[in-house]
Amino acid sequence: MSRCWAWPVRARHSRQTELKAGSKIEKPEKTPIGVIGVGWVGLVTAACFAELGHPVFARDVVEEKVASLSRGELTIYEPGLAEMIERNAERLEFTTDIELVLGRAQLLFVCVDTPPTYSGDADLSRVRSVVADLPADSDHVLVMKSTVPAGTGETIRRDLPDMAYVSCPEFLKEGTAIEDFLNPDRVVVGATAEDADAAEAVAELYRPLGGEIVMTDTSSAEMIKLASNAYLATRISFINEIANVCDEVGADVGEVARGMGLDERIGPHFLRPGIGFGGSCFPKDVNALKLLAGNSGYHFQLLNSVIEVNELQKRRVVSKLSRHLGSLVGKRVALLGLAFKPETDDMREASSLVLSARLRGEGADVVAFDPVAMEKARTLLPGVEMKDTALKALENSDAAVLVTEWPEFREIDWAGAAATMRRPLVIDGRNYLDADQMRGAGLTYEGIGRPGVGTETE
Ligand code: UGA
Repeated sequence: MSRCWAWPVRARHSRQTELKAGSKIEKPEKTPIGVIGVGWVGLVTAACFAELGHPVFARDVVEEKVASLSRGELTIYEPGLAEMIERNAERLEFTTDIELVLGRAQLLFVCVDTPPTYSGDADLSRVRSVVADLPADSDHVLVMKSTVPAGTGETIRRDLPDMAYVSCPEFLKEGTAIEDFLNPDRVVVGATAEDADAAEAVAELYRPLGGEIVMTDTSSAEMIKLASNAYLATRISFINEIANVCDEVGADVGEVARGMGLDERIGPHFLRPGIGFGGSCFPKDVNALKLLAGNSGYHFQLLNSVIEVNELQKRRVVSKLSRHLGSLVGKRVALLGLAFKPETDDMREASSLVLSARLRGEGADVVAFDPVAMEKARTLLPGVEMKDTALKALENSDAAVLVTEWPEFREIDWAGAAATMRRPLVIDGRNYLDADQMRGAGLTYEGIGRPGVGTETE
């Protein structure tokens, strides 16, 4: 089936047979891939397909981004990505020229972002402009990686009758995106019966990676993506509430999660409590699903609670600090980690944004350190004093809050750090540090939902 999409592409349009001059990639052996939108998803998708031996033509409208990527300079941080791009430079072409992509590849992976609008619904304007860039009689295959509301594919399909449409949502996690791409749990491929050939061609690309291929209809594929993210977010809010109860009743949420997770029906994943989920996906997708339901006349009650619990969770640390320090006015609080999770510099919807604003609202002086996100954080957190190292952030502080579980925070000489702090108090927002070790180092240590573990040495 994949031969339909192999080089040269089906010659229905002259644009597809007249290969553009100036492309560095000559006749390839594997199916050429077009990637439209070279943000984080697009870049990982482009790099991984190139790694699998496909020639990839990746297009973005932002000229500076294309220029720096063509020089091998990345604008985002994702482990292993820069090396992968360098390794596959000869198979990867970055361009602003949509015609070049249309002429070279028939499978077009759409990876533009769909951020929330003021109404909270997904903003589909970038998806629409991709569609508008295609000739009305295009017979390309639009493979939608961007997260879109269920029903979007059907609408696009109606507008472009000659083109095939396949929904292939992405399930990559920031920080482990390459591993996730190359070892998928499952690949979801949704299309109408009319586009079965196109769906099969997409499935064929992913088959060598293993992982179940879920062939389904377009709207179900779109729903699988939203429902997966909303469910994972629900698990996090659930375990956060359990942690809050553990704080009250003296149980250890780590033990509770372990005991729950051993039940095969529950499983161990996404039961880590903390100071709330963030990032560009969970907050946006939970809300988008809630609104999608609402716009269709259904009130998705559970998701309201998932969102509310998450918002409150980001603030709970403030009351934990107040219990130890009394008024926070003039108190110096060090934030360790600012990114929404480790191994990324992504600050979107990071808990650190809400937490630092709340702390400053209470009159605290906030200092912070993050191994990679500081440059981005500087503009987002203008009143927060950034320090070059964790130790410098801890110096003279009245308390530290571990916000992001970067491995290097486990390597800190905590006894040495405690000696430089005004008050050796650490609130571990991710239950990441060893409570006994912290206590042994002379610190007052408190986690989330484990009151009996290493607390109260003051
Ligand atoms: C998430 C999904 O996990 C991916 O499958 C999906 O492809 C992606 O969204 C997307 O839609 O693009 P990501 O946002 O990169 O991936 O990050 P996660 O690792 O899922 O973490 C999200 C947030 O939940 C982080 O703030 C993390 O600290 C928090 N989290 C995660 C918890 O608080 N507890 C957990 O047990 C797990």
